[in-house]
Amino acid sequence: MAQPLPETPLLQGPMAPWPMEGDIADAFVTQGEIPRDLNGALYRIGPNVKRRSARGTYGFHHGDGMVHALYLRDGKASYRNRWVRTPKLALEDKHDRALFEWEDDFPDWRSLGWAHVVRNALTDGVPAGVANTNVVPWARKMLALGEDAVAPIVMDPRTLETLGLVEFARRLGNGVTPKVNEDDGFLCAHPKVDPETQELVGWGFSTEEPYVTAHMISADGREVRSIPLDAPYPPFLHDAWVTKDYLVLPICPVTFRHERVAEGRCILGWEPELGVHVAVVPRRGGGKVRWFRTDACYVLHTQSAMQVGDTLVCDGPIFPHPPYPADGLMLDWTRVPAGRLCRWTLDLADGSFRSEILDERNIEFPRIDDRFVGRPYRYGFNAGSSFAAGEMYNGFNSILRYDMADGARAVMHTIPGNVLVSEPVFAPRRADAPEGDGYLLVPVIRLEENRSDFLILDAQNLDREPVATIALPHRIPPTPHGIWLS
Ligand SMILES: [Fe+2]
Repeated sequence: MAQPLPETPLLQGPMAPWPMEGDIADAFVTQGEIPRDLNGALYRIGPNVKRRSARGTYGFHHGDGMVHALYLRDGKASYRNRWVRTPKLALEDKHDRALFEWEDDFPDWRSLGWAHVVRNALTDGVPAGVANTNVVPWARKMLALGEDAVAPIVMDPRTLETLGLVEFARRLGNGVTPKVNEDDGFLCAHPKVDPETQELVGWGFSTEEPYVTAHMISADGREVRSIPLDAPYPPFLHDAWVTKDYLVLPICPVTFRHERVAEGRCILGWEPELGVHVAVVPRRGGGKVRWFRTDACYVLHTQSAMQVGDTLVCDGPIFPHPPYPADGLMLDWTRVPAGRLCRWTLDLADGSFRSEILDERNIEFPRIDDRFVGRPYRYGFNAGSSFAAGEMYNGFNSILRYDMADGARAVMHTIPGNVLVSEPVFAPRRADAPEGDGYLLVPVIRLEENRSDFLILDAQNLDREPVATIALPHRIPPTPHGIWLS
């Protein structure tokens, strides 16, 4: 029987579900022209809602993943969207009803869908994860990734068909909940792909020791080298930095504790007294893990990092505390803190740690030209806001380009009207184009029209009007992350 969706801000306005799959063969261009030298595809992923939980609730990690692809070729655009058919979604589709329920299915913000699954005969042994957070290129295919109890899902970039779990799934460890079968290994949502070796550099986090484990995965997936870390508490470790030789993990004091759920509290909590512990993990064999300490703050996403002499230079927006509610941190949603572009400098020779603020503007969803991941780089691209800092952090209406070689000088492009923009993805003009010579692809929700556009911006002339605007007849619910593949 059809059931109403729960009343939650997570399912209202721009977040309302778009449960239809479809194809648009020739999308409308309502402004400018699609560059003929821009051939490839933009992929976006985000949570969508096919069904509420079996208990009738909806939390941030309940939304099934949906991938949206914008294919560009010879000046024309086409669009396709498909669900990520995880084992959980496939089982529920087979029975045509919601089957999964979680111990943290609370009727309000405490509901995340991250706690233990309450199992029944149908769900026994089936991973509950939804793979709704990020996509990364992998061995000529694409991985859809979440953070909640399912291994990376392999997808066909052309058809968006779900091909199954990644072949190295069983080599990975537990996530926040223990494995339910031998293939139920866990990998974070933000592994990095080394631009030279195509290695996948990632990590897992768990509520059982070791709380954090780094994984170095070879380009063909056959070799997985796992390094358990002596992390001091079980963190929510969403993103990290990679350099040519190191993985740098900012372990911030947002903790998972299952015992909170039994007390009617959110499984995630903010424990600032535990401080930040930064792990520097050598990517190749040999060498010890190094640790750096700093006071409580919060890293949600990283821009990029590089090695300069004996130092590791790590850039990204840093918050005073998480920009989402957690146990011990009840947020007033009108006063969410701003993420500000910061630089951490970790000196491997003398063990010192330095933090500096490079820009005061409210930013998030940082990206770079992915050909320079972990290497010396010049340009950072972020979503930003022309609103005053302190307003909702994700109420972004602008794109910023930082020139890191020029004192983080910013060029900003604000999209007029009542809009929500998300993470900009860079596409080089040609495979051998210089760093930053290309386009930024930006999903935009037009709130009053209740539909979406894709903007193509010239990354070197960001203050000019868009190169092209591609209009969709429908709204794509917010997609936190994406990639460009050519
Ligand atoms: Fe993310």
